[in-house]
Amino acid sequence: MTLKPRMSVRAKISAVGTYVPPKLLTNADLEKMVATSDQWIQERTGIRERHIAGKGVATSDLATEAARVCLRNRGIEATEVEAILVGTVTPDMFFPATACLVQDRLGAKGAWGFDLSAACSGFIYALQVGAKLIESGAHRKVMVIGADVMSSILDYTDRTTCILFGDGAGAVLLEPCEEGEVGLIDFVHEIDGSGGQSLYMPGGGSLHPTSPETIAERMHYVHQEGGAVFKTAVRKMAELSEAVLERNDLTGAEVDCFIPHQANRRIITATAERLAMPEERVVINIGEYGNTTGATIPLAMATAMEDGRLQKGKLVLLASFGGGYTIGATLLRWEF
Ligand code: COA
Repeated sequence: MTLKPRMSVRAKISAVGTYVPPKLLTNADLEKMVATSDQWIQERTGIRERHIAGKGVATSDLATEAARVCLRNRGIEATEVEAILVGTVTPDMFFPATACLVQDRLGAKGAWGFDLSAACSGFIYALQVGAKLIESGAHRKVMVIGADVMSSILDYTDRTTCILFGDGAGAVLLEPCEEGEVGLIDFVHEIDGSGGQSLYMPGGGSLHPTSPETIAERMHYVHQEGGAVFKTAVRKMAELSEAVLERNDLTGAEVDCFIPHQANRRIITATAERLAMPEERVVINIGEYGNTTGATIPLAMATAMEDGRLQKGKLVLLASFGGGYTIGATLLRWEF
């Protein structure tokens, strides 16, 4: 398990920005594409609709828009950003990294950065890496982005996966805390590669480079064992959340705002129940976005800011679970 960090400088989130493409894919639309129903999707997942990028729109486009909104909300210029980290499993291409494309389009001259592949935990893993750049004193402004165009790797003839995901992006700016502020407190991360084949995209990499065979076998799409992922997600998100709370002498009841990865409404409520988290403190917006992989947590932060649940001083718990498996829990004080 990760050790409790010792920090002299602490990092805080100072702004949030999000972007989703305007086009909607509703459950009614999916009823015309695969053997499913609005009722089944809503009951089993909580999803009503999801946003889908148009043709020619890529992850860097969504990520750049979210970063622009974030900079505007903070009131700073792109040239002030020193590093850009992008959590994504749907980069525009293998290389260059999405971070490079975003840097260029934003005009963040002089910044460095890279992409981080941790599926649905990509954002919170990147958040911790970004925080370390602040805590080490190396940087004072780091942009952390979670962005995915899941529609580019979904098989829209497979009803067990295509109904779950949507496209979107979210960005946060990390800066050093001012005197008296707390910011990012602690995190517990874990990966478990034994779950790799329960949720993955087998084709297109160095093991199975794209070929007529990989395409014929639909290896360029998301493959998933839904039941196994579901059970592990609930167990591990609760376990790591409990671990980070316990070593900070806290309980779920003391958390003001729980922002979990949005994979399935039932996964969220089962996890929250295990943590004895009051329902009104659990942020759920999966109904309108579906599972946007790297973007779910910043999109949920924006929802909680809009509805007033995220305010300065609130104790916040983030939790994620994703393909890999990748699992994470982060504890922080909201500082703006
Ligand atoms: N519409 C209608 N029926 C569907 C369906 C759909 N979109 N998808 C699956 N079904 C059917 C199945 O074929 C199965 O039919 P059968 O009993 O005739 O074989 C039945 O519904 C039950 O399937 P099951 O897989 O047991 O459903 P479930 O309640 O586990 O829900 C998921 C399926 C995918 C929604 C659920 O397992 C899940 O959300 N898993 C986690 C996925 C996830 O979060 N992934 C990302 C993690 S980051």
